[in-house]
Amino acid sequence: MNYQTLQTSLENNIYTITINRPEKLNALNKTVIEELSAAVDEVYTNTEIKSAIITGAGEKAFVAGADISEFLHIDKNAGEALAAKGHKTVFDKIENSPKPIVAAVNGFALGGGCELALACHFIIASDNAKFGQPEVNLGIIPGYGGTQRLTQLVGKNRAMQLIMTGEMITAKDAQQYGMVNKVVPQNELLDEVKKILSVIQSKAPLAITKVIECINNFDHTQQGYDFEIKKFGECFETEDAKEGAVAFLEKRKPNFVGK
Ligand code: COA
Repeated sequence: MNYQTLQTSLENNIYTITINRPEKLNALNKTVIEELSAAVDEVYTNTEIKSAIITGAGEKAFVAGADISEFLHIDKNAGEALAAKGHKTVFDKIENSPKPIVAAVNGFALGGGCELALACHFIIASDNAKFGQPEVNLGIIPGYGGTQRLTQLVGKNRAMQLIMTGEMITAKDAQQYGMVNKVVPQNELLDEVKKILSVIQSKAPLAITKVIECINNFDHTQQGYDFEIKKFGECFETEDAKEGAVAFLEKRKPNFVGK
């Protein structure tokens, strides 16, 4: 598919989605949101794709936020509709993707850019990356899930401080806060993420989907454990679970088929 604001490539079953407006620091305008929605649909439906990476074009920015130039004539209803559309068509869809989607954060991840990274299953960052939720500088608040996903990751007090001050933090700080799994030199970022994804792609795909579902349904009550118990049971309906056990006992590598 041809996109105006994205570059996509498929290599070794890894689909790389690059937001490509470097002159505007890859800010999320209406077209980017619509095209990201279509690209994430592609991750769901294209059987050649086993996992995906979201990154930004250029060396400066992952995504520097929602496109502020589109905020000028927005009223209350339009603001609510903008946020709701983003949640439904992009951010929730990334979070609930049955295939892993990893953020390769290569520079500024601010506002909607930070929220985009947070919606991915995990984040690997380059050493020049900066994270922040600067919406309060514009008289608004995060609208693509930042108050919720950031709080879940870093805890209430750190989320309160980050969102109320609008301050930027370094990749190292973000790693210390638990937002980022690993920080690497910028020129190694995509290779590092691809290395991790190739490990994940060697596992049983349906088991990976169930891991995503269970972790996304994290709930420190019986409801969370019950969900895991159900998903664990479902694994034994799959051919791959039988293959995994047989291969172990036969001391060979499993051949998973995704069934
Ligand atoms: N929306 C629209 N345009 C944006 C943008 C955004 N979120 N972020 C950057 N841009 C544009 C700038 O307007 C500039 O365009 P121009 O060259 O046509 O003037 C271009 O991208 C380069 O940005 P610039 O500000 O010149 O780069 P910088 O290195 O001086 O500063 C930032 C980088 C990230 C600190 C700064 O761009 C910034 O604060 N961006 C907004 C971040 C933000 O508030 N995001 C949340 C939005 S809800």
